[in-house]
Amino acid sequence: MSAVERTDFLVVGSGIAGLATAIKASRHGEVTLLTKGHLMESNTFYAQGGIAAAVGPDDSPAEHLVDTLRAGHDLVREDAAAILVEDGPQRVMELIQLGARFDVGPDGSLLLGREGAHSRNRILHARGDATGEEIAEVLAARATEIPAIRIREHHHVLDLVVDQGRCIGAAAVDASGELRLFLARAVVMATGGCGQVYRYTTNPPVATGDGFAVAHAHGVTLVDMEFVQFHPTALARADDPLVLISEAVRGEGARLVNDAGDPFMRREHPMADLAPRDVVARAIFREMQAGRKVFLDARPIGPRFADRFPTIYQACRERGIDPARDLIPIAPAAHFIMGGIQTDLLGRTSLPGLYAVGEAACTGVHGANRLASNSLLEGLVFADRIAGALKDEAPAAAAVPPGYQEQLAARRGLVQGRPYRDRTGEFPELVARLRQVMWDHVGIIRSAEGLRRALDALAEIERAAPRDAWTLHNMVQTGKLIARAALEREESRGGHYREDFPEERAAWKGRRVTL
Ligand code: SIN
Repeated sequence: MSAVERTDFLVVGSGIAGLATAIKASRHGEVTLLTKGHLMESNTFYAQGGIAAAVGPDDSPAEHLVDTLRAGHDLVREDAAAILVEDGPQRVMELIQLGARFDVGPDGSLLLGREGAHSRNRILHARGDATGEEIAEVLAARATEIPAIRIREHHHVLDLVVDQGRCIGAAAVDASGELRLFLARAVVMATGGCGQVYRYTTNPPVATGDGFAVAHAHGVTLVDMEFVQFHPTALARADDPLVLISEAVRGEGARLVNDAGDPFMRREHPMADLAPRDVVARAIFREMQAGRKVFLDARPIGPRFADRFPTIYQACRERGIDPARDLIPIAPAAHFIMGGIQTDLLGRTSLPGLYAVGEAACTGVHGANRLASNSLLEGLVFADRIAGALKDEAPAAAAVPPGYQEQLAARRGLVQGRPYRDRTGEFPELVARLRQVMWDHVGIIRSAEGLRRALDALAEIERAAPRDAWTLHNMVQTGKLIARAALEREESRGGHYREDFPEERAAWKGRRVTL
């Protein structure tokens, strides 16, 4: 029998959403936070651009809401987005009180940057382009010093413990290969996204869609999974993941050009280089399909580049590019998923006792396309709301249901008497095939034929992978969810583009695909 630990609230994931939930929930009880890798290994840590909030003197939540709704192509849940923009400034101020140092001008006022589809300068940033790092460090430091929070790194969550229709905990394997069972009043999935299911991504290796797969295995409702955001500008070099070149670089004056020097975005959209991300990513992809290379011309920023974007500057220089003098080769890459585990306005999912927050969740604030820098904000705002709801949860169960461990062992290939470990690393060719299939057929431009081909390939990969290749199976399940939703939505909207249905269709307006 494996060790069973009891806690009040179990939070899975250590990005902004998980850390903020843990900190706020610790006011109401003991929190155990599980994370798959190191505490700092999350998408949050790598976020460059910043966090959007209507804090400027010329801005208002109402204007932020208009931009969020417009970017989301008639699919944004308006009540959720109103909460996002209205609570946002207060949550950001709390972050500053916790010690986050956002960049300020000589007079001490916050420096606000511009990104695609924002009608105002409203992006707070830290150390130029190290915003995520600053936020993650501040939150992790705070979480670590709160006695009511126990942090468990290198815990790979395999399953939810469900009893009589209620989530009562989770099962994880720790770094030594021991199975650990956690019982809690509630479980919060803050497991982030799934960029790693694509061949080209800006997401770190931990972003493999684990939360989606684990929740889906228990019939928890997922929604909007077809809406994947491809960031237009990743550095086109042989890195994996690719280095992100923040949209804020275009906000400071950089322009997209092809290898003929044509600033093609001027033809594509009235907002040109600062058009919504889906528009820019598709335009670049088409240029590349036509055999042209695409570059970011950041030379207008000149010598200021190194100070304003120190992380990007260093990454470019390490690859032999000087942004003040050279064109930066770029390509789109999978960056964010708008869909996820469906929640209400308090983060509750379709399974009582289970909550979801951050990129793992679909609150509906992003609709079909997320407005730049709204994701960190979403994590903060909904973490606060979830913490408020958690305090009303009933006491934790006394024991795991009989037979649970046997069922788990059968599903996840746990053989008694040996340390358990994820065997995904033994099957690099299956992982590479999955990522290529997703890129080729479930990527920026999709069709029914390609999506069916992808689903067949994913089924083959699933059959070929042993059950204890846990991450690989999570990636397969996540890939299938995206492909199935993309096949069902016979139109193009936001981040989802079907070449066989290239227009937005009235019949699909406001309609969501649930799985
Ligand atoms: C960026 O800096 O361009 C990325 C920010 C985001 O994904 O919102």
